[in-house]
Amino acid sequence: MSFNQRTVTCGELNLSYVGKEVVLNGWVHRNRNHGALHFINIRDRYGITQVVLDEKSDTTLQNTASELKMEYVISVTGIVRKRPDSMINTGMTTGEIEVLANKIDILAKSDILPFMIDDETNANEDLRLKYRFLDLRSFGMQKRIKLRHEFIKSVRHFLYEEGFYEIETPTLIRSTPEGARDYLVPSRKYPGEFYALPQSPQLYKQLLMVSGYDKYFQIARCYRDEDARGDRQPEFTQLDLEMSFVNREDVLSLMEKLFVYVFKETINYSLPAHFRRIDYKTAMNTYGTDKPDLRFDCELVDFKDIIDKSDYETFKKNKYVKAVVAHEGKEQDFTRKYLDSMNEIAVQYNMDYIPYIKVSETGFTGSAAKYFNKLEKEILKCTEAKNGDVIFIIGHTDWKKCCLCAGAVRSKIGKDLKLIKEGFEFCWIVDFPLFSYNEDEGHWEAEHHMFSMPQEQYIDTLESDPGSVKGDLYDLVCNGYECASGSIRIHDVELQKRIFRICNLSDEEAEKKFGFLLNAFKYGAPPHGGIAPGVDRMVMIMSEQTSIKEVIAFPKNSFAVSPMDDCPNTVDEKQLEELHIIIKDKEFK
Ligand code: AMO
Repeated sequence: MSFNQRTVTCGELNLSYVGKEVVLNGWVHRNRNHGALHFINIRDRYGITQVVLDEKSDTTLQNTASELKMEYVISVTGIVRKRPDSMINTGMTTGEIEVLANKIDILAKSDILPFMIDDETNANEDLRLKYRFLDLRSFGMQKRIKLRHEFIKSVRHFLYEEGFYEIETPTLIRSTPEGARDYLVPSRKYPGEFYALPQSPQLYKQLLMVSGYDKYFQIARCYRDEDARGDRQPEFTQLDLEMSFVNREDVLSLMEKLFVYVFKETINYSLPAHFRRIDYKTAMNTYGTDKPDLRFDCELVDFKDIIDKSDYETFKKNKYVKAVVAHEGKEQDFTRKYLDSMNEIAVQYNMDYIPYIKVSETGFTGSAAKYFNKLEKEILKCTEAKNGDVIFIIGHTDWKKCCLCAGAVRSKIGKDLKLIKEGFEFCWIVDFPLFSYNEDEGHWEAEHHMFSMPQEQYIDTLESDPGSVKGDLYDLVCNGYECASGSIRIHDVELQKRIFRICNLSDEEAEKKFGFLLNAFKYGAPPHGGIAPGVDRMVMIMSEQTSIKEVIAFPKNSFAVSPMDDCPNTVDEKQLEELHIIIKDKEFK
């Protein structure tokens, strides 16, 4: 098909082009027709240009213009002219000019649209995903996909300059579970055998260190068969990175430099040179989470001493008690309904309710006020509560649950009272426990993954007191999201085997699952460490979204389904036969 190819994009014309003939190619965004006057907005990913036809335009041209419907693809040839003063649109880059068309060709037609293409689409999510190719035309999606591209470009540029090699690792690998379920790929050649899709390139990057490629990175696709939520997809992208001969400080400062560079390059935002470091225990005690949103204060207050001195007998059974103060503000009336709504949070942590005290000029009121006679002064001092404020009290026999519940109350207060400032607040969470106890299975397991190094002072007590071991682990947190995780790794076979054993993996099983890694460690493994920021999460945070679907071109919905191509789907009997697969329950879908 021959057509007039564009000489300019739809986003670049301005007064300096006035009088010039140009060709635009793009989609019909809007077409308004006032008699012989036509205003056609033509759009491409660079912007929108207004094309006009007036009474002097010939009839063929008028007829073509009348035929144009939304999203038709057209080629327009015309002369750029200044808009009349009354028509100037300062909100548009091309708002001072218009193109008087002398030729319009229809290059492709469009069916009636399932939803309007606008800045953002307000169609429901499944419809957006079914017609993702249209949804991606909206300026909102285009802006975010562009940001994602620029994020990756600047990451690559930074790391190349720092001497990193970009190396791809396989995506058909041995199943080596890392915490989530693996996606499996059946082998045609070896009946009953499977490849797995990588949950991350963790072991390969460690092997690359053994091979001497001491600064590696990869923009890596990762696959995890876990339930989707706002910041999780079954298939996502990591900036995976590993270095040899480094300590924690080297990894942290490299990442700080990287994010300072990337934020400046992509969104012109200046981050501080260093990010705050908070140890895990302090983060939990102060913010009730290991991914605190530091854009607002509202720190938790230890309330156990007060409870012990109070008349609140039934609450004294709680070994841990925290208070969260909601400061009176114009955003939220502390109605009975609002105060009781906190109980919904309590239920999620197996608690019955969250008692509260309302502070007023005439003293304490509220569901728990009666228990704190004579303690008012002390309570006001430790909570810094003022008249009009509400103090929520969270108690639990389990420290973690008490912190998490108080953290959830803090988050709700932050959102409801609109305490969250604009911008980006990064911090490092360090000194995580290396192990956590899996109550259901009755054994210890790795908090991060089994390849992370215990801190030196715990090496002798790994087996005798796993619960107290801290790891050389670190998470990067921004605005309440965990955006990266990493650690210094074990590079010694014997230490690695000890960790496997503590995690209930016998030497035989370890050999079967991770023999190749243990074998590699026998041939000169350098000390090494690394990290992996989630690309989707970072771009989501930078574009101020709350779902990573908004920054992924073709994501799955919350049920791990792609409504556009309807996958997962059944396959031909012949394909199954070749893969030696018999479906047990055909009625399932
Ligand atoms: P981890 O499992 O913590 O560590 O993942 C690192 C980062 O990847 C992102 N992420 C996800 N993003 C979207 N959807 C998901 N389902 C998802 N899961 C994780 C998060 C997270 O912080 N191999 C280690 C890293 C290392 O030790 O170097 C790993 O994968 O942003």
